[in-house]
Formats: sequence, structure tokens, C-alpha cells
Amino acid sequence: MCGIVGYVGKKEATPILLDALKRLEYRGYDSAGIAVLTDKGLSVYKTEGKISNLESKLPDIKGTCGIGHTRWATQGAPTTINAHPHVSGNIAVVHNGIIENYQELYDELKSEGYEFVSETDTEVLAHLAHRYYKGNLVAAVIEGLKKVKGSYAAAFICEDSEQVVAARKDSPLVAGIGNGENFIASDVTALLKYTRKVVYLHDFEIVSLSGGNIEFFNFEEKPVKKKTESIEWNIEAAEKSGYPHFMLKEIHEQAISVHDTLMGRLSELGGDVMLSEVTLTREEIRELERIVIIACGTSYNAGLLGKYLFEGLAGIHTDVEISSEFRYANPVLDETTLVIPISQSGETADTIAATKEVKTYGCRTLAITNVVGTTLSREVENVVYTMAGPEIGVAATKTFTSQLIALYLLAVHFAKARKRMDVDRSKRLLVSLKQLPGMIQQILNNKETILKQAKRFSNARDYFFLGRSLNFPIALEGALKLKEISYIHAEGYAAGELKHGPLALISKDTPVVALATRGLTYDKMLNNIKEVKARGSPVLAIASMDDTEISKYVDAVIRVPVTDELLYPVLTSVVVQLLAYYTADALGCPIDKPRNLAKSVTVE
Ligand code: M6R
Repeated sequence: MCGIVGYVGKKEATPILLDALKRLEYRGYDSAGIAVLTDKGLSVYKTEGKISNLESKLPDIKGTCGIGHTRWATQGAPTTINAHPHVSGNIAVVHNGIIENYQELYDELKSEGYEFVSETDTEVLAHLAHRYYKGNLVAAVIEGLKKVKGSYAAAFICEDSEQVVAARKDSPLVAGIGNGENFIASDVTALLKYTRKVVYLHDFEIVSLSGGNIEFFNFEEKPVKKKTESIEWNIEAAEKSGYPHFMLKEIHEQAISVHDTLMGRLSELGGDVMLSEVTLTREEIRELERIVIIACGTSYNAGLLGKYLFEGLAGIHTDVEISSEFRYANPVLDETTLVIPISQSGETADTIAATKEVKTYGCRTLAITNVVGTTLSREVENVVYTMAGPEIGVAATKTFTSQLIALYLLAVHFAKARKRMDVDRSKRLLVSLKQLPGMIQQILNNKETILKQAKRFSNARDYFFLGRSLNFPIALEGALKLKEISYIHAEGYAAGELKHGPLALISKDTPVVALATRGLTYDKMLNNIKEVKARGSPVLAIASMDDTEISKYVDAVIRVPVTDELLYPVLTSVVVQLLAYYTADALGCPIDKPRNLAKSVTVE
């Protein structure tokens, strides 16, 4: 995830900026840079790779005011040119977030003669500030940002004076108050060595650091009174934003990560999905005869939902294959097949090997991944990035829900191209997609219920997760999460299949999690619940808030908000993740680094 820092004080800025950036390294990044005001003007240095790389290239820079950045590539490859800061004339900027109306601003600025050197959306911020700068950096930043749609935590520096100006919308920004020196950062972790007195900025607020002064403004350039808070966390707790584990932090980030996956990709007006990165034409999409999804682990489970969506919405026959099996299965493929590898890391050896293999058949390829510039993204024609930000916990959580969102977007895009979805239906679906972040937040606000149920069953030796139709992949994912981090044996099963064998294992000692949200198979699911209840299993149902019936048949119910039938998997995912997390926590397991597992599996 990108990180920003800024400093104005009496000490040399460079070592402070580098040290603060290093404290953000745990968030993941692929390039770094700084801009420091010296007596010769702005000194800007940036490089791809690690901060140590940058450090080794720096001359002795004298200056007490500067900004710095670690970039985690989203738009544009992880290169030195794309690294921040970006400069326009006498102004430099570092930025976290996404500029949604980048193209419009780019065209406008280009026609005014501004030159663009990078592939990033951030460059428009530098040019906008430059366009409006008439001696007052705060005013220029406000004017520039008023033109911007999207998210940002951005810090600006101008060679005219020792001042750092930073602003935020939908991306975190915190100011640190020191003794005769002040700081800004995207994450409090960067500041804790220097100060524990911090001020959190809200959307559309600006902070200006100059000399020993720190001032806050709104977008009308009126001063804003802010509360100073004292941070008690140690650095380790701060990295996790106070959560005991990265996994819990990442589960809680899902309201934001789902929003980020959707951002800039929905046009509710025409009910269209905007995926400019997909170069398949409408004609080519119509001609597709088959989709093959290849993936491993959690990404495979996401792929299974893709099958329901591509077949149900777009009418394209879809197979989902485990990468390590597919590669050696003599697949029948040709150029009418679109292969979609899904991989959070983009470095999973099994998926990469299978992707290389399918290319020899002339298939079209489109990857869904979370990390820019990885091996997988270089192997395929098109990449849809999930934009979930780096995930540190070994158990995939936020990247899974973002993969689901990417699949919804692709399925609607394909369905519309193939004239299988009318505008009314797509509009309704897009509106519901937009409501998901708020609904995820509702589930997170109600996590105590999930905690209670997790503790209740944490001594079980075996667990079953049952689902049908769209919830079947989430049953698999719930079982995988529980196995992975709590070491409890868990099976995910298509509920209708239980009676064909595994029902023999059901007893009062095997808790059953029944994913029973409203939809096509709801009644059938109730029958399956009765089957396991009759054999004495305690049943924990995950059901929608408007369901008044289900509590008659089960031992406990965890509720999720009412949404479009197609979208429940996103909400039930959050519940099974929390259930696994709290179970593992109750058992004292090393949640972020489960035994025998690695975040990125780069061997076949
Ligand atoms: O990076 P990828 O999505 O390709 O990784 C695939 C699996 O290794 C991964 O999903 C694994 O199953 C996770 N640890 C599950 O939480």
C-alpha cells in the first residue's frame, strides 16, 4: 500500500523522511522517493525497489522540509518514472489513492501544454497545483483538488517556501505535532518515533506545516479546529492499527477494499461497468464459447463463484480448474476460450505455469490479481486489478472479497456485451454493489455475535460448512479459513451432496455452519438444515435480516443485511472469516503465520 510522509522543522529532513518511510515498509511497496527543499530548489530522488535502494543513490541533501513516498503500483508499472514525487514546475506531490476522472483532467491539462512523463494518475495533481499556484500553496491545493474525483491523501511542497501542505479524501492522513517540528503521514506508525501527539484529518481537510506552525483548513480555506490525540500504542500495535493481528485488521478493511475495487468502474446511469483494462471488444466477447478459470486455494473458491456469474448472467459456459491439476490434464482449449487466472499475489507458481501452458493453445487470457507488475500480470493479455491493497496475513480475506467483486464486474460487462442483461437489471445490480461497503460495515459492527458463536464451538474437532448455489463457494472458503488458521478439521460441502456420504459423520460433536441467505435454493437449504439437526448437530445459520423463519430450525443465527440475491456471498464471506478468526484466537493459534503455510507459494 502506498505510504506518504512529510516533515518541516529544524533538523535535516532526509534521514527523517527515510526513517519514517521505512516504518511503512510492512505495508508493502515497490518504489520509493523523496523531495526535499534545498537552497538550490527542490531536490527530487526516486527509484524502483526498496528504500535502501533509494538511500544508496542519495547525495548529501541539505534541507529541513520535505515529503516522501512508498508506492504500491496500481495505475502504471512499478518503475522509477512512475515513482512519486511527481513534479510540475516548482511544485512536487506525493499521493495515495486513485484519481477517478484522471482521463478528463489529463486531456484538459495536456491541451493547456502540460507535459506528462509517467503513466500515473498522480501527475495530474502536480499539474493542477501548479496551474492554480499564485504564491499561496494552500489555495492552489484546494483549487486543484476541487477538480478531482476519487480518493487521495496527498502532500505538496513548493520551492518558494518551507511548507508542506497535505489534504485527504477517502484515504488516511494524520498530522504529528512535535517540538518546533511537525509531520504528516498516511499511517501513525511512521510518526511514533518522533511524536505521540497526532491529529487525524477528515475528508476535505487540509493541513499546512511551516516553521514550527501547524494549521488546519477546510476546502473554503477557513481554519478548522482539530482535536489532538495521544497515541499509546507501541509500534507493533500501530502497524496493525491497534488490532491484535493483521488478519483482523484486513477483515475490517473490507468496507474500504470493496469500495476501492468498485471505484471508478460503475456507471449507474447506463448500468454499465467500465473496465478500460479489458481490451476484448464486444464482438470478441460475443464470440467467446467458453471461460476457464484457473486458480489455487482461496482464489479457486472465488473462481467457483465466477462460474455461477458467467453462466447465469452472461450465458458463457465456464469451468473452474485447480491450477496444479489443470496443467497436467491435457486440456481441450482453443482461441474461442478465455482463460482467467485468479491469483492474489500474482506469483503462485501453479497458476503461472498453467497460464503459460494455456497460451500455447491460442486462448485469450485475462488475469484477476491484486499486485501490479507481477509475473502473472506479465503473462496475460489483460489484467483486472482488485485494488484491495497489500495483504499481510497469510489467510486471504480482503483480497478474496475483492476478487468476488472483480468477478461481478466482469460478469456484468460480459452480460451486457452479449445482450443478456437489460439496463434495468444492471442498474439495480450496480446500485446494490455500491451498497456493499456499508453492509460489510454493519456486519463488522455486529461482530460480538460472531465472537460468541466462535467461542461456543471452538473445542470442536470437526466442523461442516454447508451452502448451495452461490453460497457453496463460500462454504468451501469458510472451511478453508478455519482449517488454515485454527487447525480444526473442516469440510465445505454443497448441502445437497451431504446425504450422499458425509452425513455419516454428522453428530452432536460436529457443528454445522449453514449459509442460508434468501434465494433460489433457500427452501432446499432449510431441508438440508433439518437433515443435520435430526442427527443432533448444532447448527449455526448465516441468514438475511428479513428472515423470520430460520430461527425455528437452528441453534443460532448470524444476520447479514438484505441485498440482491446474487451479492450475498460477499456478506457471508465476512462472517465466515470472522468466525474462523475468533475460533483461532480462542485457541491461541499464531493467526497471521499459520504453521506450514506461506503467503505466496512460488514453488509447484
Ligand atoms: O496468491 P494466490 O491467490 O495465487 O494464492 C493462492 C493460495 O495459495 C491462497 O489463496 C491460499 O489458499 C491462502 N492462504 C488462503 O487463505
